[in-house]
Amino acid sequence: MTAINDVVDLSRDGEIAVITVNSPPVNALSAPVRDGIAEGVTSAVADAEVKAIVLICAGRTFIAGADITEFGKPPRGTSLHQMIDVIESATKPVIAAIHGTALGGGLETALGAHYRVAVPSAKLGLPEVKLGLLPGAGGTQRLPRVVGAEAALKMVTSGNPIGAKAALDSGLVDELVDEADLRGGAIAFAQKVVAENRPLKKIRDRSVTAEPALFAEFRAANARKFRGFDAPEANIKCIEAAVSLPFEEGMKRERELFMELMTGTQSAAQRHIFFAERQAARIKDLPEGTSPRPVKSVGVIGAGTMGGGISMNFLSAGIPVTIVETNPEALERGVGIMRKNYAASAAKGALKPEAVEANMGRLTPVLDLEALKDCDLIIEAVFEDMAVKKEIFAKLDRIAKPGAILASNTSYLDVDEIASATSRPQDVVGLHFFSPANVMKLLEVVRGAKTAPDVLATAMGLAKTIGKVAVVAGVCFGFIGNRMLRARQDQAQALILEGAMPWDVDRVLYDFGFPMGPFQMADLAGLDIGWSAATSKGETVRDRLCEAGKRGQKTGSGFYDYDEKRNRTPSKVAEEIILAKSAELGIARRQVSDAEILERCIYPMINEGAKILEEGIAQRPSDIDVAWIYGYGFPVYRGGPMFYGDTVGLKAVLEGLEKYEKIHGAAFKPAALLTKLAAEGKSFRDLN
Ligand code: 3HC
Repeated sequence: MTAINDVVDLSRDGEIAVITVNSPPVNALSAPVRDGIAEGVTSAVADAEVKAIVLICAGRTFIAGADITEFGKPPRGTSLHQMIDVIESATKPVIAAIHGTALGGGLETALGAHYRVAVPSAKLGLPEVKLGLLPGAGGTQRLPRVVGAEAALKMVTSGNPIGAKAALDSGLVDELVDEADLRGGAIAFAQKVVAENRPLKKIRDRSVTAEPALFAEFRAANARKFRGFDAPEANIKCIEAAVSLPFEEGMKRERELFMELMTGTQSAAQRHIFFAERQAARIKDLPEGTSPRPVKSVGVIGAGTMGGGISMNFLSAGIPVTIVETNPEALERGVGIMRKNYAASAAKGALKPEAVEANMGRLTPVLDLEALKDCDLIIEAVFEDMAVKKEIFAKLDRIAKPGAILASNTSYLDVDEIASATSRPQDVVGLHFFSPANVMKLLEVVRGAKTAPDVLATAMGLAKTIGKVAVVAGVCFGFIGNRMLRARQDQAQALILEGAMPWDVDRVLYDFGFPMGPFQMADLAGLDIGWSAATSKGETVRDRLCEAGKRGQKTGSGFYDYDEKRNRTPSKVAEEIILAKSAELGIARRQVSDAEILERCIYPMINEGAKILEEGIAQRPSDIDVAWIYGYGFPVYRGGPMFYGDTVGLKAVLEGLEKYEKIHGAAFKPAALLTKLAAEGKSFRDLN
């Protein structure tokens, strides 16, 4: 075996040369990997004794893509295009041997090879769209030439990989080989290619056609999904080019569109989130080598919407759950809803039919808190009332086994105060799930003053097990997400009294990229959450709507009126209530511009984020971005509120806040950190 460089080896097995990439963790195509592969192929071609070449990877996966950390830096070494050209124009057959995930530039490399073999568990995909990009090394031109235009469209615009079996069926893979012996299987395949004198199959020499209506129909069918994003459309244009242009011209088109995306803000935002998500999993001051506590069983207190959703996460991950309610009807209703949700997923094909009963079989519904005595983790999900929560935690302190983790799903309350009801505050942590808890990806892990490091490590590990993205928050009212949400909600309320209408505010935030605006969201959640008829004094627009029986979608009207299909139209009654309220408060209504709506909703969030950083509630700005993207639908192509602040420029954000502070006062008072960064010409990203 010869080491070509630190990350690529060349060896021989009879007439077959084997090039092995070994660049942990995911064999990304860094400059040394590209150089090494190109050199390996060139020397194998030059070696008269070699008849075919296998390209394989060590470690957990085949090449998982271009090295994203190199993006935006000056080019080094052999380019990816050059490397793929070396492979494709080799005069001896090159066989890519795939395990793990062949993604992005990795799959493009494999598409440059003449043949592809894979183990059955392998996955192949072009996920660039998820980074706001398109496959820029021939993927958009070669993939459709193999799998057809329609299948290629789906793969490049969803970014989702396909399994090896589907890849075999579509011709993307030539043969499946034994899971346990990829190298042996690939060498045997190469020997067969040599023995049968099979041709050097170059994908570029093939052509691809498409039904004329394919692209228009595809765009129309996916318009909602692609709304706001630049990359899906650019990917579609590339596949169109593959159908309508000769290979080289298609490659040129791919290159142009790739460069547009690569230099744009959206891709920078999406790449920021890729790394931010992984960074969020790291707790800065956790002692090295802290090992998590084992969690083999979970208890959930409360079988309402939150408790049920939380339980489903664990059941789906194979972890048994004991769920506790105080009365049998509520328990039965809660369990019924969980079963219904699983059945609905199965009906949509998102879950295997047999998984419904398997998941439900792991659930033990009970009416007695004592049943939680053996659980490793207990999550309380009852309503937001400190006294009730403290009572429960005091009981848990008596019931739970030593070392059990006691968690609260509170969205606002002081986790330290909750912990003080126990004799073991080190075992108490906040696990704030977002509704619907079985769907939303964010988990805020709220770290109390005394929470033990191994409890935090357990929470972070568990989040990964149940498919959540965890962000650590310190204790304050509303933690990271809801505290910033409140800053936005306050402004949304103020704006409708000053002159905007709820539908104006909703439209501006929808156009910004949120899935819905604040008033639409309020109608959906129910306007009477936290509202009580007994104490309502008609002080706010919401009070008045609730008093009038307009409590949101569930009552057929709120800020909007809803028909039986839940189509909404602005509510006349809501409008009257708003106008009356403005008049009562002596506010002379005025025309509020869309730009003002946007600034007044978003800048206070950025400002609150800065305060959250100052106070050490969030570890880093990128954690805040992750929380907002996965918990509140902040458009990922804007990179989260802090990244967006950087995009606007902190000086401009500061000036905006100062302008509104003069008119509206303290709600806009700039955070010291924001003022400092703006004065120094810095960005939040400098703090990550
Ligand atoms: N470049 C650089 N680093 C990468 C990387 C890449 N393409 N892919 C993953 N990494 C890093 C991660 O940042 C992480 O680093 P860390 O440990 O320091 O945080 C480490 O590899 C392990 O990654 P994960 O924690 O995500 O490991 P998993 O096993 O959960 O997932 C994976 C592995 C499925 C490969 C996942 O990492 C992934 O989806 N990677 C991105 C793949 C991708 O988008 N490829 C396309 C790149 S763009 C491209 O190829 C452009 C070309 O068309 C020109």
